Amino acid sequence: MKHDAIIELLDAASIGKKVTVCGWVRTFRNETFLAVNDGSTIKNLQLVIDREKTDEALRKRLTTGAAICASGELVASKGQGQSTEVLVEHIEVLGDADPEKFPIQMKRHTMDFLREKAHLRFRTSTFGAVFRIRHGMTFAVHKYFNDRGFYNLHTPIITASDAEGAGEMFRVTSLDLNALPKNDEGKIDFREDFFGKETNLTVSGQLEAELGAMALGKVYTFGPTFRAENSNTSRHLAEFWMIEPEVAFADIRDNMDLAEDFMKYLLQYALDHYADDLSFLEQREQNEEKDKPQNERNEMSLTERLRFVIDNQFERITYTQAIDLLRNSKPYKKNKFKYPVEWGVDLQSEHERYLVEKHFKRPVIITDYPATIKAFYMRQNDDQKTVAAMDVLVPGIGEIIGGSQREERLEKLVEKCAAFGIPEEHVWWYLDTRRFGSAVHAGFGMGFERLIMFVTGMTNIRDVIPFPRTPLNAEF
Ligand code: 4AD
Ligand code: MG
Repeated sequence: MKHDAIIELLDAASIGKKVTVCGWVRTFRNETFLAVNDGSTIKNLQLVIDREKTDEALRKRLTTGAAICASGELVASKGQGQSTEVLVEHIEVLGDADPEKFPIQMKRHTMDFLREKAHLRFRTSTFGAVFRIRHGMTFAVHKYFNDRGFYNLHTPIITASDAEGAGEMFRVTSLDLNALPKNDEGKIDFREDFFGKETNLTVSGQLEAELGAMALGKVYTFGPTFRAENSNTSRHLAEFWMIEPEVAFADIRDNMDLAEDFMKYLLQYALDHYADDLSFLEQREQNEEKDKPQNERNEMSLTERLRFVIDNQFERITYTQAIDLLRNSKPYKKNKFKYPVEWGVDLQSEHERYLVEKHFKRPVIITDYPATIKAFYMRQNDDQKTVAAMDVLVPGIGEIIGGSQREERLEKLVEKCAAFGIPEEHVWWYLDTRRFGSAVHAGFGMGFERLIMFVTGMTNIRDVIPFPRTPLNAEF
């Protein structure tokens, strides 16, 4: 069906042309002014209907959510709020939306309500803006790496290894769960399973990305990852997308520089290309916050927060310094933290957010965590206690990136595997890169949905992915 995208019809350049518009009705005022959106932009196009020439039965069908196609002349608008409008000569309703039944009406819906209607929530301005920006950020990720000589590597989704060693994996099997084959010891015989061994959905593409980096130099993965962690928080999904660059001949300092530059590039890209959507989301956030107590409101507007990350150098501190700072902080002394602050214990979101939002008031990179709380592949520091890990923390979210310099020394890595209970025969291929032409290398993983939360100001991760997967929820 030949038609014009609304985004092309909003400026004066097209005035005087005969145009055809297809989209969904947002509102119909005074039986004359029809606001239509086709997803190409957050803005609606106004169609002016001639009451006399359009029969009543048709007018009654122009309800919120109905799909229409209309043609007419594009003229300069006399009304306020838009520069152009269409004088409709012909209009057709392609699909009705019964106002008694269509759940997305032109009023304020709660995010909870819209999550239950995730198949229709794209029809709202908010979700239109979020998913246009999500697309834009996907494109910007590929552009950033392509422009800098990185190769995109498709790492497997089904894997036999647990990269993060956290044991939070979803099993993949073709065995009949009601008639499982058993071995002599009475345990499930996975030799009879599809792959002849136990397999899972990947928690990270990193281990395979490292193999690629040790030949292609600079690679990145950008794919879905899966974690069966039962954390029902506003920042965790069971299925999320992760971007994982991996660079040969790079140490942790190079890794931090890359993470900071990458983050700033993406936010600048959003500001440069998604101004209309961002300004809508900023306004939306301000409206939402009117109902919140002063201390829960953002000190900065959405665009101010983006600029704040772009314009400030990230603070870089070690985990040990972070623990000292936290133990000397007011909330610690006043017993305000829920979780303990002790050397050797992982930082919680409340600690991370304190450091970023209250103490440094800028993005923070924390490095050199205790070896015991990080994954087996991180490079051991000379103190024997810490590893060359790095977490990047931003306001409102906490950890957005986690990464490290990798252990490139074979003996150390073999020791680590033993200490973490990883059988060498499971990771022989990973160890091989340390056997043959091993080199210093580093990389990180950015949670794509956490990025989208930061860029859009959405406060629940379920609202930045089309169909969220969380505990007890796999609808749609
Ligand atoms: O810190 P993580 O677990 O690091 C890794 O997986 C490494 N293999 C990355 C690497 O070095 N190549 O996860 C990386 C990021 C986190 O910082 C967070 O932003 C996001 O992934 N993330 C999640 N996002 C949504 N839901 C979850 N359950 C997440 N778990 C981690
Ligand atoms: Mg992490």
